[in-house]
Amino acid sequence: MFSKNKGHTDYDIMTLQHILDDIYTEIQPHIGKGKVADYIPALKRIDPTKFGLSVCTINGERASVGDASERFSIQSISKVFTLTMAMKIAQEALWKRVGREPSGNRFNSLVQLESENGIPRNPLINAGAHIITDILTSAYEHPKEAIVQFIRHVADTTTIDFDLEVAKSERETGNRNLAMGYFMKSFGNIHNQVRVVLDVYFHQCAIAMSCEELAQAFLYLAHDGILPSTGERVIAKEDTDRINALMLTCGMYDSVGDFAYRVGLPSKSGVGGGIVSIVPGEMVICVWSPGLSENGNSLAGTKALELFVQKTGKGIF
Ligand code: DON
Repeated sequence: MFSKNKGHTDYDIMTLQHILDDIYTEIQPHIGKGKVADYIPALKRIDPTKFGLSVCTINGERASVGDASERFSIQSISKVFTLTMAMKIAQEALWKRVGREPSGNRFNSLVQLESENGIPRNPLINAGAHIITDILTSAYEHPKEAIVQFIRHVADTTTIDFDLEVAKSERETGNRNLAMGYFMKSFGNIHNQVRVVLDVYFHQCAIAMSCEELAQAFLYLAHDGILPSTGERVIAKEDTDRINALMLTCGMYDSVGDFAYRVGLPSKSGVGGGIVSIVPGEMVICVWSPGLSENGNSLAGTKALELFVQKTGKGIF
């Protein structure tokens, strides 16, 4: 067991690698359980037995097991990157258009939007992410390129790109997202053309990255907003804390309470089966396993993170 001293990097990478190896053995009976997302046809072809797990520390050390270097569709994990970009642009004005409370509903639910006047509960559910993407659509001449450039920059990997087949499949089956967009537009909370904003949103969800790339890309959230490799500030320290708070309270949709109970780390999931978790001051963990729970979170991925925290004591509580 590592010490509970927050912000103290008391691990050594060989020990972390052994812990990941143990998790890989223990997780085998859970792999393939759950349901691969099938509401986006291009996602349902993914092999449900895939499993990858990678840890990247703020010192630049890495431990990985399984399919950690294979790219998958990051889906809603992209909402954290776009939120980071939008917070830099819109600052306090952003919070007039989107809330900061857990939704208690499915990630693509429409029900709250009417009673809450087209203001989504938080930026990590679909409707809230549409507002964020609308902000980026207003700010950038080429918002899709701006998003992928931002991700390539924080991941320090130039080859990260959209999976255009997934983006097309999302667009063809994205009626529910379009409905949310038009509904918010009727309240004046989407400023650009809904189809244009949603095209950007479908593309950001369709970015393909590996566990290793995601763990590296999110290091700024474990390091007070600074890229540890170069010392460059991505976002202010206080905004880093706020994004971590939003991930802890809103990042796992309608099972955020259960996830905080079991894992206790600021995290974000996607229906591609990925989950990214932040250990503030220390490291980022990314897991990928495509079988999902009813709430759209990776089943084996959640179990692996629970095992990681049990074995290392690295939960934030
Ligand atoms: O909007 C959608 O339906 C997807 N492109 C993204 C959803 C997603 O990943 C939700 N996550 N758990």
